[in-house]
Amino acid sequence: MSASLVTVEITEHQHELSINRPAFGLSLHGQIRVPGDKSISHRALMLGAIAQGETQIQGLLLGEDPRSTALCFRALGAEISELNPKLVRVQGIGLGQLKEPVDVLNAGNSGTTLRLTLGLLASHPGRLFMVTGDSSLRSRPMSRVVQPLQQMGGQIWGRKGGSLAPLAIQGQMLKPIHYHSPVASAQIKSCILLAALMAEGQTTVTEPTLSRDHSERMLQAFGAKLSSDPETHSVTVTGPAQLSGQTVVVPGDISSAAFWLVAGAIVSGSELLIENVGVNPTRTGVLEALAMMGADIQLENQRVVTGEPVADLRVRSSSLQGCTIAGGDLIPRLIDEIPILAVAAAFARGTTVIRDAAELRVKESDRITVMATQLNRLGAQVTELPDGLEITGGTPLSGTDVDSHADHRIAMSLAIAALNATGTTTIHGAEAAAVSYPDFIPTLQQVCG
Ligand code: S3P
Repeated sequence: MSASLVTVEITEHQHELSINRPAFGLSLHGQIRVPGDKSISHRALMLGAIAQGETQIQGLLLGEDPRSTALCFRALGAEISELNPKLVRVQGIGLGQLKEPVDVLNAGNSGTTLRLTLGLLASHPGRLFMVTGDSSLRSRPMSRVVQPLQQMGGQIWGRKGGSLAPLAIQGQMLKPIHYHSPVASAQIKSCILLAALMAEGQTTVTEPTLSRDHSERMLQAFGAKLSSDPETHSVTVTGPAQLSGQTVVVPGDISSAAFWLVAGAIVSGSELLIENVGVNPTRTGVLEALAMMGADIQLENQRVVTGEPVADLRVRSSSLQGCTIAGGDLIPRLIDEIPILAVAAAFARGTTVIRDAAELRVKESDRITVMATQLNRLGAQVTELPDGLEITGGTPLSGTDVDSHADHRIAMSLAIAALNATGTTTIHGAEAAAVSYPDFIPTLQQVCG
């Protein structure tokens, strides 16, 4: 690789990431590790904070999103040591003991921080809390968690009838409910389960299909009484719970590994080994979608680490073909990987249709519109659907200026597309990657080197 293949220019607030694909071609090689799983990192900090005793977390993601969670829970009274991927110690203050903070809590860009924390705050009687986030988070729908919490007796106010942050919460003694969630969303499910820890009796959440189950696994490990019914996609927690501090070993994030899986698959002559990746079945839809496209991915050294399945993933480049990625059972298991799957589709033969993914419109950006416009700028053939994308692959892409729209997964997906586009691609707003993958650019340089 020439030293200038990947360059980063830092202006006052923005990083411009430029990728020049050399005319003589490029192939990717190496053995890499991805940072800790974002969903598990949030939950380890939260459960550690409300448990009795010390929780030790190994492999925590040091991205901006878990940092927001740590800041919120420090403001709520938990003692959390300096964030370090080797070891973070959380001195739990016990269930129901969160303090009324002296200022507004700020969840930054993190929907998981805001929505899950809300469940805990709503169930702390006699305390007032205020929560906000950055401009993206302040535009994302909150009624999906506010409404079930109100059914439990929660008192929450916010803009547009309580549907947008900033939100104000007057903590209450909550009552158990059976909630039928209209969306398969782990944030909705986890918010209600956390609120239910303090409510006396059984609270059940039923989802249309199973969303990621990290909360269930970790709540059980911390000692909560919880049962699941896989047939009805229901989970029941019995309150009041007693949680005690645990050791949590956070596996690598499959959502971050997905960038290298696609990079290794589309850049010819490549082979990458991504070590220590979480392969919880509620998250492995991306492996199934890439297998349908003909990707060569092997799972090696499969094991279970503190209750979560883990494997090393080996990817070798292969020729991809378009496929249909749709259906309520599959989409929630790959929802965060659709931007990078759209990149894979742009380099696959034939047409890929992605449907049933309207949720993408309310993520950190409208990921349907943003991926369609940005890939089309590079010369791809992408059509927006109300609930997905139609991508006709195989047209050569050529480098130009593209924009992340302040969305971490868009920034990284466009960087991977640029590896296979001729000439120079400049990604504006590449600093967004730090939300979930602070070392993305050094790793990109490593695998290109
Ligand atoms: C997450 C759940 C998903 C996912 C998000 C993280 C979580 O959101 O998109 O990145 O950690 O619970 P939804 O629950 O809204 O689908």
